[in-house]
Amino acid sequence: MNLKNSIHTSLSKGNRIPVAVLGATGMVGQVFMWMLENHPRFRVTAICAGKSRNGKTYRESTKWQLPVPFPESLGEMSLQNLKAVAAAPPAIVFSALPAEIAGEIEPELAGYGAAVFSNASAMRGKENVPILIPEVNPDDLNRIDHQPWGNNGFVVTNANCATTGPAVALAPLRKFGIREVFVSTYQSVSGAGYPGIPYMDISGNVVPFIENEEEKIQRELTAILHLDIPIFPFCVRVPVRFGHLETVWLDLKETVDVDDIREAWGQFRSPTGLPSLPDSPVQYLAVPNQPQPALSFTGTPPGMTVFSGGLKKQGNRIGFTLLVNNIVKGAAGGSIANAELFVRQAEKRLRKDRESDRTHRRGSRH
Ligand SMILES: NC(=O)c1ccc[n+]([C@@H]2O[C@H](COP(=O)([O-])OP(=O)(O)OC[C@H]3O[C@@H](n4cnc5c(N)ncnc54)[C@H](OP(=O)(O)O)[C@@H]3O)[C@@H](O)[C@H]2O)c1
Repeated sequence: MNLKNSIHTSLSKGNRIPVAVLGATGMVGQVFMWMLENHPRFRVTAICAGKSRNGKTYRESTKWQLPVPFPESLGEMSLQNLKAVAAAPPAIVFSALPAEIAGEIEPELAGYGAAVFSNASAMRGKENVPILIPEVNPDDLNRIDHQPWGNNGFVVTNANCATTGPAVALAPLRKFGIREVFVSTYQSVSGAGYPGIPYMDISGNVVPFIENEEEKIQRELTAILHLDIPIFPFCVRVPVRFGHLETVWLDLKETVDVDDIREAWGQFRSPTGLPSLPDSPVQYLAVPNQPQPALSFTGTPPGMTVFSGGLKKQGNRIGFTLLVNNIVKGAAGGSIANAELFVRQAEKRLRKDRESDRTHRRGSRH
């Protein structure tokens, strides 16, 4: 069923829209399966992973790594051949594929008319492919209208996991005139996927290099915030399972106090009608030793809030810490929220079209 019909049917009959999860057995794929099991708008109808898993059940193929329950009702689904799903995709496809494969398969899927929401870096920053965070740059979704694939298909990406936290925390601070951002990350091992980094490399150790990560933060943060400013990142891998902690220093044009920053976060709201977003995207924790990665799966919905703390001021610089769940808010949850934003807009458009059809029919009867 094509995208438009699917959304049409779901709108009129209250059905859930069929979706596929690519890379369903991996770190990010597992979060998709957990979050989509009982999603109010989406229903998982196809799953894929590496070739060796074709035909096997999700239960037997997956080494469940998350600190939340396995999605029992999806456990007996069979993993399908990626190329076969790509040639006849459901309306929406969530991609948690490695970048090399994503770069090949995602444009193919869009060409077959699928709405692709991807975590991979391959398509980020390609012409008219938005890097989207609904709380930060929702209007960038309109760029899909200019994508080249036809058949109503398109690709929307979400940001790199370490970019997502600062992007959300800085969004409501843009009004103070951000001039420069200095960011240091303390990134968990789940950020490298499963099985990820060898135990001998990370156990009792800290690795002050993550390939391409600093460049991604520089490119993506400026693109998402629509700010042409210098970003000075350092990225470090630490022996923590889930959650990226980050420290941020900002140079601001305006003279502000820490209370102004807290107030800006306190007033910041997510767009309404997206079930996977918390009402308040940033929650400030006024406790000296928080936030900590142990909080990664907390908040409502779990793992979707960016926690901040440790606000301080030195000269005209503001410093703080933040915590983002790299595989939920920084990956699968971010994609799901992007798809929710798209569906909400598509439904609004459909309602408007129906309304104008009705008005037109009434007019032609007179
Ligand atoms: N981890 C994070 O915090 C994070 C955050 C943001 C974005 N991302 C991005 O999200 C994507 C997935 O990351 P991850 O951490 O979930 O990686 P992962 O744990 O290594 O999982 C990769 C998934 O892709 C599947 N796969 C690998 N090769 C394949 C192939 N040739 N054909 C079909 N499926 C294939 C794997 O299946 P098998 O199990 O069969 O190998 C697995 O399901 C990557 O592009 C990554 O950069 C990750």
